[in-house]
Amino acid sequence: MGVFNGCLFSWSFLLAQLVIIIISICVGRRFFSPISDIPGPFVASFTRLWHIRRILKIDQNLKLIRHFVRIAHNEVSVSHPDAVKKLLLAPLHKGSWYKVVTFPDGRFQNPMSATDPKVKNKLSRHLAPGFVLSNMLLSEQAINQTIHSLLGWLSEYAESGKPINLNEYFSFTISDIVGEAIFSKPFGFIKGGKDIGNSVANAEAHSAYIAVAGYFRWLHVLLLANPVVTWLGILPAGYIIDFALRSTKERESNPDARFDALAHWFRMLEQSPDRIQRHEIDSGAFNSVAAGFDTVSSALQAFVYYMIRHSNAWQRVRDEIDAAGLKDGVVSYVDTQRLPFLQACIKETLRIFGPVPMGLPRLAPEGGIIFGNREFPKGTVLSVNAWVMHHSKEIWGSDARQFNPNRWLGNDSIVLEKFLMPFGAGYAACPGQNLAKIELSKITAMLVRDYDIRQVDPSQKWKWNAFFTLAPHSWPCYITKRKRQ
Ligand code: HEM
Repeated sequence: MGVFNGCLFSWSFLLAQLVIIIISICVGRRFFSPISDIPGPFVASFTRLWHIRRILKIDQNLKLIRHFVRIAHNEVSVSHPDAVKKLLLAPLHKGSWYKVVTFPDGRFQNPMSATDPKVKNKLSRHLAPGFVLSNMLLSEQAINQTIHSLLGWLSEYAESGKPINLNEYFSFTISDIVGEAIFSKPFGFIKGGKDIGNSVANAEAHSAYIAVAGYFRWLHVLLLANPVVTWLGILPAGYIIDFALRSTKERESNPDARFDALAHWFRMLEQSPDRIQRHEIDSGAFNSVAAGFDTVSSALQAFVYYMIRHSNAWQRVRDEIDAAGLKDGVVSYVDTQRLPFLQACIKETLRIFGPVPMGLPRLAPEGGIIFGNREFPKGTVLSVNAWVMHHSKEIWGSDARQFNPNRWLGNDSIVLEKFLMPFGAGYAACPGQNLAKIELSKITAMLVRDYDIRQVDPSQKWKWNAFFTLAPHSWPCYITKRKRQ
């Protein structure tokens, strides 16, 4: 009995100590941190859990529309006119969230997972040539064929009068285009018009996982991203990853393939094996597929959703295309650059519904960083959220929350460009943005030129999830083919 009481006493003592330690940490974070005065939800001032809850409640982007919001004990979301310049255009270290994006496991760094700008730049330098515009345009014929397949499906839906879920067909098309541009091979989604291996359906679960796992990297490494799992090969990679890795491997021994992104990377490996390693190439292919897939699909959907709600935007773009004489075939990328109103509508879409709703975290450098009269000490995690920046009335004016493509046609559009950051900005900006712009310009031009689209229930607001990317869903549409005189 005495021993039992002794045990109980020591357990209670340990528990009491643990509680005291936890309370002390919470009190310290809440009241004695250098960012204690920054407004934000009470729970966020001592734990990351508030932020995680908002990610899982899919409204993280809607909660931060203020200059500074403390979203976790160590992180402040910054929405300030200087945020892009001071946080993204400067070579600051990235927040530790990025470290989760390793592939195949935590031992291997890639440009996205590397948080030190010097390391990140070194890794990116090897992959960057594969993403340049002129290189991406070498795949334009193959991209046109994929767009043809999409248009075939749209015409079929138009004839049948059945409603279409654009989120599915756009995702199929975009995945196949990324496949063409990276390894000269489509995944095969759009031809069959169906999801393979539930890849598209499962993308949201992956997006939610990655958004949250970045804050619990130790758990991610312990359970999934560790050398034992890689060695045993027990992680079910899923169709998309399997296909990407298989195609990368096949592509290595196929010198006749197109001059795609992999062609650059393999050439680099052959010519300078000391500068790039094989796993970096796999990682480049994998990251491109993962990052390039639902982002563009989301933007395409947003284009349609906002354009059909705007009184005359659809017709105005159509008139512009007609006036440019672009009647037949899939419009070329070069021709889409001669359509200023279409480009204004695409920019406005990326502003009002930027596909990445997560903040991009950076660390305040040596000597701290100042916004207005507020100073943040070295090491504070400061994140810039495109959604929040894009909805700031201070930057965009009183109509910041309205879709207004005309804002891009005024004299101050060059100034506004500095605040448009759907692809991030600076050294870590999205390397796939050239491909994204090709896809968006060509596909939107084709939709507007040849089809009319309306929602089955025009008064219905769409639904979307906001994990790592914004994923609209549940807004079925009717399509009709344009009647030409
Ligand atoms: C509208 C479409 C897209 C948007 C809005 C978008 C946005 C972004 C953003 C915000 C980042 C993170 C930047 C940062 O960490 O500071 C990123 C990274 C990345 N994106 Fe995109 N992206 C799009 C399309 C694409 C496409 C089509 C590809 C592939 C061809 C791609 C490949 C990547 C890769 C590989 C990274 C990580 C690269 C790195 O950190 O070096 N993205 N993207």
